[in-house]
Amino acid sequence: MTQMAEKLIAASRKAEARLATRKTPFVFDCWYVAGYAPEFGRALRARTLLGRPLVFYRTESGKPVAMSDRCVHRSFPLSQSRLDGDTIICGYHGMRYDAAGDCVEAPSLREQCPRGVGVRAYALREQGPLVWIWMGDGEPAADLPLGDWVASESWPASQQYYHLPASYIALHENLLDLTHLSFLHANSFGTPDFATAPYEVHIDEEKGHFRLKRSVVPTRLPPVWAEPTGLTGRDAARITTSTFVGPSAHTVNGVFYGLDVPESERPDTQIITAHLPTPETATSTHYFIHHGRNFAVHDPAVTAFMNKQLEVAFMEDVTGLTAIEKLIAETGEDDMYEVSLSSDKAGLAMRRWLYRQAQVPKL
Ligand code: FES
Ligand SMILES: [Fe+2]
Repeated sequence: MTQMAEKLIAASRKAEARLATRKTPFVFDCWYVAGYAPEFGRALRARTLLGRPLVFYRTESGKPVAMSDRCVHRSFPLSQSRLDGDTIICGYHGMRYDAAGDCVEAPSLREQCPRGVGVRAYALREQGPLVWIWMGDGEPAADLPLGDWVASESWPASQQYYHLPASYIALHENLLDLTHLSFLHANSFGTPDFATAPYEVHIDEEKGHFRLKRSVVPTRLPPVWAEPTGLTGRDAARITTSTFVGPSAHTVNGVFYGLDVPESERPDTQIITAHLPTPETATSTHYFIHHGRNFAVHDPAVTAFMNKQLEVAFMEDVTGLTAIEKLIAETGEDDMYEVSLSSDKAGLAMRRWLYRQAQVPKL
């Protein structure tokens, strides 16, 4: 029976000391997806993001609002309170907060609520179906992680959401690792040749750019890609570029073409899946997915077909990561170690970067 050598275990633990883990604080200076636009309306909605309970609603003019869900008086959840015009009236003693989070009325006081009493409100930005939130200190100091294609009519798209009971770091590592496609996704979009196909890794630890490109040529495409691209039963190229865009976003860009088509006649078809993890807690994640393409623009049947097929595949990741998280919770992180392989290079670099970016939040 194999027992891992003590020195290998010690080396694994030493390497892990500089990697982001479940104990690492979140990166707050970043735009995260708070939800899909239709989720926020004239009803108060609670959602915990980056360990902070928040309440969401839209003003009468339709502007989305996010603020701390905890009344500053005695911590009553504002999400269980009442919306009155553009203000929330706390359900316990009636303190009233405006859309900026300022307390504008405290019924038990004869005078006005003192200036400066209120809850923190957060900046939101809408982009197509996505509502982004900035939870860092100060004004938003970065552009949105995804480009204009997300809101463009030239890129028809579908969305998915999973409540993932697992670490967002484990999800990011999964997305930078294409070798699991042949196994975890053997029954959906993985093919046996994916695990050993040549790949290129681009790592810029200074900028936080991590990219993995895998070229599977020739191959036969699984139905999710073969049917929409008309490549069923033909020898094809499958070129997948998987990019860590930041703590809140990862894009997977797929290019497919038939090998029987001359290079000059290949269509410029692209499929981009944006994986958008927003940590809920250290061990649970709001997993948003926006899946778009730049062809068959007016064909909703293609959208529906790919969405249905991808749901099966992404559920395989959700199921796998959930099982891992459960096992780690039962084992205890201090008692475990993990061995990394050369194919984990991009994921390890990403975790080193996240570790360095981690911020201890101000309350
Ligand atoms: S707890 Fe909100 S007003 Fe008292
Ligand atoms: Fe996967």
